[in-house]
Amino acid sequence: MKKILLSVFAAALLAACATPAPEGAIVIDVKNKVADINPDMYGIFFEDINYGADGGLYAELVKNRSFEFPNSLMGWTSEGKVTVVETSPFERNPKSVRMEGISGLTNEGFFGMGFRQGEEYRFSVWARLTEGEEATLNMTLLDNGEAAGQGTLTITSAEWQKYTLMITATRMVEKGCLAMTHQGATVELDHVSLFPVNTFNGHENGLRADLAQALADLKPGVFRFPGGCIIEGNTLATRYQWKNSVGQVENRPLNENRWQTSAEGRPAPDYYQTYGLGFYEYFLLAEEIGAQPLPVLNCGMACEFANDPTKEGDWLVPLDELQPYIDDALDLIEFANGDPEKNQWAALRAEMGHPAPFGLKYLAIGNEQWGEFVAPRLQLFNEQIRQKYPDIVLVGTAGPSPDGEEYERMWSEMRKLNPDLVDEHYYNTPEWFLNNACRYDSFPRTGPKVFAGEYACHEYGLFRSVNNYWSALCEAAFMTGLERNADIVRLATYAPLFAHVEGWQWRPDMIWFDGLHTYRTASYYVQQMYSLNKGTDVLSTTQNGQPVAGLDSLYASTVYDGATNDIVVKIVNVSSEERPLALHFNGLRGKRELSLTVLETADLHAENISKEEEEVTPVTSVAQIELPTAHWTIPAHTFHILRFHK
Ligand code: AHR
Repeated sequence: MKKILLSVFAAALLAACATPAPEGAIVIDVKNKVADINPDMYGIFFEDINYGADGGLYAELVKNRSFEFPNSLMGWTSEGKVTVVETSPFERNPKSVRMEGISGLTNEGFFGMGFRQGEEYRFSVWARLTEGEEATLNMTLLDNGEAAGQGTLTITSAEWQKYTLMITATRMVEKGCLAMTHQGATVELDHVSLFPVNTFNGHENGLRADLAQALADLKPGVFRFPGGCIIEGNTLATRYQWKNSVGQVENRPLNENRWQTSAEGRPAPDYYQTYGLGFYEYFLLAEEIGAQPLPVLNCGMACEFANDPTKEGDWLVPLDELQPYIDDALDLIEFANGDPEKNQWAALRAEMGHPAPFGLKYLAIGNEQWGEFVAPRLQLFNEQIRQKYPDIVLVGTAGPSPDGEEYERMWSEMRKLNPDLVDEHYYNTPEWFLNNACRYDSFPRTGPKVFAGEYACHEYGLFRSVNNYWSALCEAAFMTGLERNADIVRLATYAPLFAHVEGWQWRPDMIWFDGLHTYRTASYYVQQMYSLNKGTDVLSTTQNGQPVAGLDSLYASTVYDGATNDIVVKIVNVSSEERPLALHFNGLRGKRELSLTVLETADLHAENISKEEEEVTPVTSVAQIELPTAHWTIPAHTFHILRFHK
């Protein structure tokens, strides 16, 4: 008893001696863990928009490799006698090309083909002779009409066979092409393919190493795919069907890309989905970059922007015809997690090279659907999925708008349906992002939680906005609010992820690229700074008793990282003046060495999309502070992360 009294007395004495926070200080209460943070919190959202898959992340260099585009020779130029015929070995891609006499075919690639000096490229083709004994195919990597690599194949069989040839690039080529010349007996060719050997983790049907590495460097917690509007399709016939995207790559049927026509004044008539990057490859990528896969499936509705969502029509699946769509969802769970001995889809996964389950835990039904037809469809999906797979975390939708009548209505529908998470999308102005940093402070704490599934700050409106530093800074400020409310906001993914500099339909985008280069925008670095510093628990961070969400143009949040025993403070100053600050850490004393990561540039318009050095990139240095009160000046237009051992 005496001991207890003594320690109570000692604690009271310590409390009495605790240094009070200076007036106006940002007070971080180290003992007050207000929420746990989902380990998957910050992630990525991939969609085949802006040539993100075919022509982008998917490393195939040949466009229209199976001659299945409606215009069969789109992407190719021919010389001599070259005809498209219906004689393929692949039933779901039935066309091939016949070359007779001295003839040639050249493929332009996607805005040209990039070749790296000294690197090997794997050329492959399915071929057969239709008469004669032997045909020769000469392949040349071309750079402005000059050879930058060469090789020869001899075709000797009348049976369809796959032929492979390694070609080394003799120089760096920014925008090359692939030329094939034919001599000898008549041949038929199909699935003409050219891949860099150096793909991400060396997979043959692989991903561009530099682009996939940019994803890996984000250390994403979650990986949402494959869309976006892509999963809806402009019509139900052209929706994304995951079952078409698995199995032998040559036999995955072509689909149109929903983004062929969407961007104002930027039609993309050659934009198709080969599904070479399909669900197996998506799951594998998720695994290899350490992210939880979050597939999105069609809920029985084609894209509402492309149809009239106020009335029933052929864009909407009647409720009594929805079962095949629900089966797609149930089968996908088996494909990802099932036992190959017991399920055909799990057996296919094993046959494709992954007998172990992928450990699917999240599943979204529908993208950003809205209107009266959504809830009855989601209800049917949810009932069957919940009954069979009660552990799957289901994601519903709040529609495309982050506020307004329909947003409220969708949320009230979601509260009735009760998915685990509701996907919210915000493409909005810098002002909106700053004003919404406190969006979740008073959000209801009951019912489904939030997945901030698509967001980006658009300074000049859709299609006109660019990835400038100012937008990234506003995203950083907004994200302090996601982090502060990590009990309700469980996942967050910026959107869209990729854009080809010549082939975009939507901007801004997190990562830009051309045939050889990757451009990491300031928004990329903001995402990375959050992801690498996500911590495990939110700590109370207040100024004058309020969240730090805009007063004096400052935004701040703090986390504790249980894995490293670190305190991590994020502060964003969006004003054009520096701000001297007192950071008061209740419960800590003494000197600390901190790791300080800073994102800053004087140029608010900096875009980072240039072959020269990046204008904006985070810089980490070491600094000293003395606790409990650290005096800290945060310069104008800066994002600071202070990290130190507790
Ligand atoms: O991210 C681009 C598009 O924005 C997505 O496809 C869609 O979900 C949203 O409208």
